[in-house]
Amino acid sequence: MLTAILITIAAAAQTGTDFAPVQSFVTQYCLACHTGQKPAAGYDVRKLTEASLNDQPVLWRRAYRRVSEHEMPPRNAPMPPLDAREAFTGFVDHALRTKACADGISPARALSRRLNRAEYAATVRDLLNIHINAGAALPADGAGGEGFDNAAETLFLSPVHAEKYLEAARIALDYAMRDPRSRETFLTATPGEKYTPPQAARKVLDDFLPRAFRRPAEKDEAARYIALFDAATARGESFDEAISYALQGVLISPSFLFRIEQPNTTGKQRQVPPFELASRLSYFLWGSAPDAQLLRFAKQDRFADPNIIAEEAIRLIRAERSREFAENFVEQWLATRELGRDIKPDAKLFPDYYESEVESGIRYEPILFVHEILSDNHSLLNLIDSDWTVMATRLQRYYGLPKTEGLRQQPRRVLLPPDSHRGGLLGMAAILAVSSVPTRTSPVLRGKWVLESFLGTPPPPAAPNVPPLAKEDAAKPATVRERLTLHRQNPACASCHAKIDPWGFALENYDSVGRWRDNDSGKPVDSSGELPGGLKFHGPVELKKILMERRDLVVRNLTAKMMGYALGRSLTLEDYCAVDQIVEQVKKEYYSSYALIRGIVLSTPFRFQAPEPESSPKESSAK
Ligand code: HEC
Ligand code: HEC
Repeated sequence: MLTAILITIAAAAQTGTDFAPVQSFVTQYCLACHTGQKPAAGYDVRKLTEASLNDQPVLWRRAYRRVSEHEMPPRNAPMPPLDAREAFTGFVDHALRTKACADGISPARALSRRLNRAEYAATVRDLLNIHINAGAALPADGAGGEGFDNAAETLFLSPVHAEKYLEAARIALDYAMRDPRSRETFLTATPGEKYTPPQAARKVLDDFLPRAFRRPAEKDEAARYIALFDAATARGESFDEAISYALQGVLISPSFLFRIEQPNTTGKQRQVPPFELASRLSYFLWGSAPDAQLLRFAKQDRFADPNIIAEEAIRLIRAERSREFAENFVEQWLATRELGRDIKPDAKLFPDYYESEVESGIRYEPILFVHEILSDNHSLLNLIDSDWTVMATRLQRYYGLPKTEGLRQQPRRVLLPPDSHRGGLLGMAAILAVSSVPTRTSPVLRGKWVLESFLGTPPPPAAPNVPPLAKEDAAKPATVRERLTLHRQNPACASCHAKIDPWGFALENYDSVGRWRDNDSGKPVDSSGELPGGLKFHGPVELKKILMERRDLVVRNLTAKMMGYALGRSLTLEDYCAVDQIVEQVKKEYYSSYALIRGIVLSTPFRFQAPEPESSPKESSAK
């Protein structure tokens, strides 16, 4: 059993409360340009006082952003040492967040967004019961604030999109009309003995609209599509052709293509209306439209009871369809989507990697692993270390592990032997390969991956104009570690690299495609690392121990990422207050994954909408 003694890690944000060093940082590095008659950008840093932290947080937020992104001071001005910069941003972040949380968590306003390509494909698939990817013809989506492609800020509709959507709808319906099983799903009536064609069309559309629009059809809403049917019939088209034409109209309607949330004009915060909440739940955990039960619960107003919301969320995550969510979320969170796209291990050096079933086994391992944790209520700490993974025989052999009785070509949960060198995300080839360069390991990129994707404390952006790592010299073979010596010799480089590289050094026993190795360039691998504070560790086992001590950072980062994904937008300071509350609850429940899912769907940002400002109630709604 887990003991209740949980180590609390002082996050980077928990710096002192003394304002004096902040003041002197501003004086030393900002004042030269940002004061006097004409301060640069009209921004007077003398307004950055202890009092304004409270009453003008926006001023501070601007300073925070520019300093944390290394944009201020500009490159030609004297640079603060990294420690001083981080002390400044740590202080400001902590102060702003404390203030934001003290005021109570407020949700964002209602937000409409277009279905992204994956959501579109899944929604059409479920609606028509077809098994083609109708989204394939659509342009790819960019990623928004939290790094996910479901972010509202990137999902508007361009003219290019409009054409493509018409094409996609046509392809999907052509396919569906020819498949008896899908016809049964959506052609709920055909003209027969009692029906006339217009009556049948009416019935089909009455059944289809609420499913397509994820809410009851409005009065007379069907008439628009009946008119399409009538027009096609008048042109002499058959019933099939005419109904297909009408349904195309539905599939390019904004009510289908957009998840529309009506602006909250009540003047006060309100719970997200039932049908909109049903969509929030299903697009979060299934990446698709609400099913019949969610729509029924919405109709019966059952979501007024938070217990029902929590129960439904658990039902959704346990269902097979949550694989969709796991795939979209995990590949973007862990950056493994880049494998085979921007990041391709060298095929000449690593032919094994490209053997059939190996590549896909590698790609799916983290997805299936995280899915298993989430859908089956395992502890989130398995992400750091676990005695199991999800794989098939081929990946097992690739890892050099003994065969498991009964395991075949289908990946499934497999217990790992004690000395497997696997377990947790960091033992997975996908993670180890995506943080390597094509021909060799990169302790820098692996270190960056650990800091950014795992701990949620990304390193500062790389310095410009740095010479690339020396090419390998056949006459004098050197390990990657040896080739990185400059990082330690030059203090200007060490200011960053001393924090980044050690995490990656501890993983040097994995080659760039994730296989275990004891030697590199003819020498035994040195997998020791030392963090700036003097904390030393050696190899992945000790690395995982250190990460276990920082478990709250890992869980907080996961929570923030999942919250950003669930909300489909970048997080605000207030959202982070909710994140912190969820993390506390998850800890109390021994890092249960269901506690995380429940925490998110019951949180204020997920469940509530802020009122529209009185002056411009319409403007913000359908952006
Ligand atoms: C060498 C002169 C110089 C120094 C030193 C400097 N800045 Fe700036 N700053 C500028 C200039 C020029 C701009 C306008 C161009 C831009 O936005 O990049 C600017 C813009 C800004 C802005 C954008 C204002 C806005 O409306 O968003 C902020 C905030 C800012 N600086 C904060 C700081 C802080 C905090 C420091 C100290 C850590 C600092 N600057 C140091 C020259 C400087
Ligand atoms: C402000 C922080 C910072 C400083 C200072 C810095 N770096 Fe880096 N460096 C990084 C980061 C972050 C990366 C990872 C880049 C990426 O995301 O591609 C990196 C990547 C590298 C790489 C590529 C590693 C690989 O495996 O290919 C080399 C080489 C490198 N840095 C050398 C240096 C040298 C030499 C110096 C000093 C002259 C230096 N860096 C200073 C942050 C820094």
